[in-house]
Amino acid sequence: MKMIKCISIVFITCVMILFSSCNDNDISSDSNAELVTVGDNDYRPDFHFTPKKGWMNDPNGMVYYAGEYHLFYQHNPFQSVWGPMHWGHAVSKDLVNWEELPIALYPDNLGNIFSGCIVVDKNNTSGFKSGSESPLVAVFTHQNPTNNKQTQSLAYSNDKGRTWSKYENNPVLENNDKIDFRDPKVSWHEETQKWIMVIAAGDEIMFYSSPNLKDWEYKQSFGKAVGAHGGVWECPDLFKIKNENGQETWALLVSINPGGSNGGSGTQYFLGDFDGETFTSSQSETLWLDYGTDNYAGVTWSNEPSNRNLFMGWMSNWSYAQNVPTNSYRSAMTFARTLHWQNNNGNSIIVSKLPTELIYAIGGIVVENTNVSSKFELIDDETIGNGKFYLETILDLSAINKAKIEWSNKSSSVIIEYDKIKSELILNRSESGFKFNNLNGNIIKCPYVLPDSNQLKISMLVDKSSMEIFLNDGERVLTALVFQLAPFKNLEINANEEKQFIKQIKINKLSK
Ligand code: FRU
Repeated sequence: MKMIKCISIVFITCVMILFSSCNDNDISSDSNAELVTVGDNDYRPDFHFTPKKGWMNDPNGMVYYAGEYHLFYQHNPFQSVWGPMHWGHAVSKDLVNWEELPIALYPDNLGNIFSGCIVVDKNNTSGFKSGSESPLVAVFTHQNPTNNKQTQSLAYSNDKGRTWSKYENNPVLENNDKIDFRDPKVSWHEETQKWIMVIAAGDEIMFYSSPNLKDWEYKQSFGKAVGAHGGVWECPDLFKIKNENGQETWALLVSINPGGSNGGSGTQYFLGDFDGETFTSSQSETLWLDYGTDNYAGVTWSNEPSNRNLFMGWMSNWSYAQNVPTNSYRSAMTFARTLHWQNNNGNSIIVSKLPTELIYAIGGIVVENTNVSSKFELIDDETIGNGKFYLETILDLSAINKAKIEWSNKSSSVIIEYDKIKSELILNRSESGFKFNNLNGNIIKCPYVLPDSNQLKISMLVDKSSMEIFLNDGERVLTALVFQLAPFKNLEINANEEKQFIKQIKINKLSK
């Protein structure tokens, strides 16, 4: 009896091992009622950065130096959930191909390494320079794991970011009373010849200035009476931003969690003036950088060679980030975007555009058509079914009220629908597979009034488990994760009436 029990346990264990080793690989065919199991490799994006293993959240220390875009990130190398924070590190020359480098900053006796930034100290104001390269100086939050106290510290590198030393007199900015005091973002203010730090403190932003990155003087607090306050403010960023006529204004990005536009984590922004000490804004409504649920804690690159406001965010949401169905790693970054000020018809907003580097990911054309009939349909294994494509379509809503893009298989789908009467776009992922803790019923809403032309251009960048959707060249953006249980091979565009409305459609493979 004992023997039989023993043999059956061994047998069951072998079957389980066999199954679990199959699960980690490709999506199987959906012929068998689409009852398939998917694994990490099916969900891991190809041209969005993901860590090889372990956990990742916020992008940190994004800086360009000597031909490389550096991306550091909140990282737990031990497990695929949040834990003791390190700064992981990757570099890219083209924002598409990323090379993961050894961990840059480890926790120490002052605590874990929370979010922060890196600046190129060209004038050696910090005195950290020791060789021929300009020192890269990281300004980050030390979080004491015992009492959660958060202070600000420095580390520096004199070898293009390859090795890092912590400053011996850390922390450089103490904290005597605040529970949340973190995520410094520093930039050089030419007019006053000072470094400016914006830092999140509870649900407001504090401004400090310094001549040398070591001695900081408090200047101002901003935000108590404006914007969204449904959660704690995190990861601010302050920068000048230009409109198409070359006029400039100032933008302050502020991530908030919870309390984002569609629940959970989100990023709001303020447009205004900054004189080196004080930021003021006359903005009355809350403006969101991205209406999707999955673009958080994003900031812009420092020292960008063409002076672009080049942005990247963490493509997840604290409401479910630690439960998404990947095992060996968790989370990806958004694709990089450029931010621009648009101020037409009294409407002052930030628009987000895909950077020119997209060409390094784009491959051959799958479909290119103009004035398609009332419906477009493509069933395709290689591109659509492989979960990697770039779609650009121009829809004319003059004669119809609703237009829909549906990406699906026989039993599930993700639907993007624009409703002209409601002036709203929704992204419905309630039937797409993984349920995302039911955040807002898995329906993402984005208010958007069509221009007088009634035209809606939709650009959609899809990379395995992520969708980045840009409306009318970035007037609205929605970034959303989608974890399908079996490949979506069918792409359809239709309307609520039989009228010709698809003016243009182009689908590209993604070569990466
Ligand atoms: C934002 C955040 C930051 C903090 C870091 C910790 O996602 O909460 O405020 O520095 O993550 O990992």
